[in-house]
This record gives sequence, structure tokens and C-alpha cells, in this order.
Amino acid sequence: MINVLFVCLGNICRSPMAEGVFQHLVKERGLQDQISCDSAGTSGFHAGEEADERMRATATAHDITLTHRSRKLVIEDYAAFDYILSMDDANLDIILALQKKAAQAGITDSPKILMMRSFDPDAGEDTDVPDPYYGGLNGFEEVYYILARASENFLEFLVERELKAA
Ligand code: 4NP
Repeated sequence: MINVLFVCLGNICRSPMAEGVFQHLVKERGLQDQISCDSAGTSGFHAGEEADERMRATATAHDITLTHRSRKLVIEDYAAFDYILSMDDANLDIILALQKKAAQAGITDSPKILMMRSFDPDAGEDTDVPDPYYGGLNGFEEVYYILARASENFLEFLVERELKAA
């Protein structure tokens, strides 16, 4: 099983949507026995909460149901996951810093830590999936389209790299 973790700040907007979109694609391609995914936040601000209702409404409009409850990224995640995908640069720094703590605690596994937007063919110069939390509804829709493009490509990358090689 290839385990993928999507990470943002609050784990109520971008990363639960990434999880939902990616999981939908995995199921569509019948790969659910080979690829699993989850999401987490670098902050615990919203731990235990459902995804933001604006993000859930956007997901529903695209036939995706978000059921995830927010949780904070923990050092054990570095042992449990093969890939950690960050939604932006600021969270990447936190993910890398926590990886050092995981190593100090004896967790020597090294998941591949990548930027989600690097899989978006339309990203241009943009490295981040923009944080929609303080903006309008169109920001949530934009996040959906970014994640749909990036998830498609990331899944293709995984199939080529992990499944065809296996
Ligand atoms: P997310 O969005 O990182 O995509 O889940 C945010 C959610 C909450 C906050 C910031 C960003 N907040 O400051 O509470």
C-alpha cells in the first residue's frame, strides 16, 4: 500500500479537499487497494472539526463528499506515510522541521515530501495552493480546480513511479 498524506495549516480547507479529490480519482481508477490517503494540519487550531462548510459545499458541487475531521500532523506520520504533500511553502518549512524532531525521536523513515502545486500543470510561477480561508467563495472554487489538476497528475506520477515499477 502506498500511503499519501496531504498537509495544510488548519486541515479544514485545502488538505481535506485534496484528500477528497485524490481519493475520488483513486476509486475511479480502481486503485483503492494500492493507494490510500489522509490529511492533516500543521496547526491544531481546528482539531476535531469537520472541513469548513464553504469547502464542503464546493466539494459537494463537484460530487465529492468530505468526511474528514481535522487533526494535527504528528511525528508518527513520518513513519506511517510514504508521501507527504504540502499545500504551500510556509507549511513545507513546518513539515521539514517536524521531520527533524521525528528523526530525533528515532523515526528514521523518510517519506518523500513534495509540494502539491508542483503537480499542477497550470501553476506557472505559483508554488502554493492559495489559502482560501479569509477570502470569498470563488477562492474555494479555485482551490478545487487546482487540486483537481494536481491530483490527476500526482496520481499519474504515483502509478508510473510506484505501481508500474513494482
Ligand atoms: P487550510 O485553511 O490551511 O487550508 O485548512 C485555513 C484554515 C484555518 C485557518 C487558516 C487557514 N485559521 O487561521 O484558522
